[in-house]
Amino acid sequence: MCGIIGYAGGEISTRAVDVVLESLSRLEYRGYDSAGVAVVSDTLAQAKKAGKLEGLLAELRTNPLPASSTAIGHTRWATHGSPTDENAHPHMSFDGKVTLVHNGIIENFAELTKELRDLGIVPVTETDSEIVSHHLALALAERDDLTAAMRDTVAKLDGSFTLVAIAANTPGTVVAARRNSPLVVGIGEGENFVGSDVAAFVSQTRTAIEMGQDEIVTITPDSVHIQTFEGDTVEREPFTVDWDADAAVKGGFATFMEKEIHDQPAAVRDTLLGRMSPTGSLQLDELRIDESILRRVDKIVVVACGTAAYAGHVAKYAIEHWCRIPVEVELAHEFRYRDPVVSEKTLVVAITQSGETMDTLMAVRHAREQGAKVLAIVNTHGSTIARESDAVLYTHAGPEVAVASTKAFVAQITATYLLGLYLAQLRGNKYSDEVVTYLDELMKMPDKIAEVIAREDDIKDLAHRMKDVTSVLFLGRHVGFPVALEGALKLKELAYIHAEGFAAGELKHGPIALVEEGQPVFFIVPTPRRPLLHAKVMSNVREVNARGARVLCIAEEGDTAVEEFAADVIRIPETPTLLHPLVSVIPLQIFACALAAEKGLDVDQPRNLAKSVTVE
Ligand code: F6R
Repeated sequence: MCGIIGYAGGEISTRAVDVVLESLSRLEYRGYDSAGVAVVSDTLAQAKKAGKLEGLLAELRTNPLPASSTAIGHTRWATHGSPTDENAHPHMSFDGKVTLVHNGIIENFAELTKELRDLGIVPVTETDSEIVSHHLALALAERDDLTAAMRDTVAKLDGSFTLVAIAANTPGTVVAARRNSPLVVGIGEGENFVGSDVAAFVSQTRTAIEMGQDEIVTITPDSVHIQTFEGDTVEREPFTVDWDADAAVKGGFATFMEKEIHDQPAAVRDTLLGRMSPTGSLQLDELRIDESILRRVDKIVVVACGTAAYAGHVAKYAIEHWCRIPVEVELAHEFRYRDPVVSEKTLVVAITQSGETMDTLMAVRHAREQGAKVLAIVNTHGSTIARESDAVLYTHAGPEVAVASTKAFVAQITATYLLGLYLAQLRGNKYSDEVVTYLDELMKMPDKIAEVIAREDDIKDLAHRMKDVTSVLFLGRHVGFPVALEGALKLKELAYIHAEGFAAGELKHGPIALVEEGQPVFFIVPTPRRPLLHAKVMSNVREVNARGARVLCIAEEGDTAVEEFAADVIRIPETPTLLHPLVSVIPLQIFACALAAEKGLDVDQPRNLAKSVTVE
């Protein structure tokens, strides 16, 4: 998510700040709701500003930072606390001795805050990152060594983090640590760098060292020392970055869409992070909504548009099953202009990546006027829908740059699962061990998604073989139905190919008339461990196969029944039925993206579309 840079140089000049600001301009794709920079001169000095980097640059033109040899910088995508000047990074400690930037989520933030309050240290921001800076300062006061203080501090932290810190008493030194969040070291001549990815320093040096999990690095102008969280020295060979600056911003991928497809394991993992208590139950304190309101909800209406609405369709299956509350899913623009039946007992769930979609915003306002409570599932902190809703559950997918949604979709589905399980837990529909079992299964999903992505070459090969198709059908049943709709939408918007998604059971009621010799039909095949559901989809497979269609199946490993009928089978790992969309949608995204690339189309900015639709 956030973009991070640290710089240790030999001379005291404006270069440290110049390097950091240039780096932030290339890291802005990782987050752009605020930016900040800090330096060590006689003391620590810093500047930070909500909004895009340009705001910080304007501030620094009026109030420049002092010349220095050492600097850190941050461009933020908010996860904890709204995008304000105060919440922007760097975060300086209570005693002004250290300042740091952070990417990630500190899960035990509440107990760390309590420890500080017991010592009389009162946080001034809403961020988990500020809390870490105070703990680092306390550790530094005892150790008088920034690296040792970082070791003591990370030992207290749960969650994911990249931390980069500087201290007033050690100009020329930057200390950084990582767990479950990226960090790379750049080796220069008489200067060294750390960054959230190589885009941070690729214009300065192409020699880099990848940091391992749970490692700390200390850089000075002429040394790089890596150690484990336990303090054991690590030797690692540098590699040469062979990407140009543009490719580096895309993480080495040709397009943002490919990068964002590959970001999906992290998007799901980060959306789950920080929401489970040590006993395994769900904690959604952030919802700012009275539990009594959630207990008396008698109907849920999901409002959203496009891909976000398909996430809502998946939510319907899960929430109704877990909570026994009726769930309606409605396109936001349709909800707004009819006379929907909602009351104070209705929970309207608005799902939106941007938080700015006008159709969804109008539905939110309409629902609140009718007396319903609105809970928004949003990816963008501080967005209008997040501000105007009664409660917000943030997805932590990070900024989505490609116009067609991928990682926001899987993060939205994940957030609706959390909501469903939380309501079930709160209302006592499910025994707590059942909720814990589902949460365990959810925690396995990032690795399963990564497994599907690892097979992308086979899917790209399929796209290559199918590059001349003019029409594709997608069929699914149960949660496979919204996946079919999403598969068709991705193909339409990226490859401009006529595509339709249908509920497989609807086939005989009309769409089968479209099936002729060679017509490609994708099936999202449910797990064979649900024999009835599986058998129903298999009869649909036989029906189209008998009419000469080219059957393409997305099926679980070990599902041999599909092999007799399918021209191609794309395998996904065994997964509980309700969680299936998180893995079954991945091949369809890769397929649409690859087919568009085969046709030489602009994958990131398809024609006629905009990322954020702010008109009705
Ligand atoms: C399709 C896509 C759109 C959005 C829709 C809602 O790939 O991205 O269908 O899902 O425009 O946008 P948000 O989620 O920002 O409200």
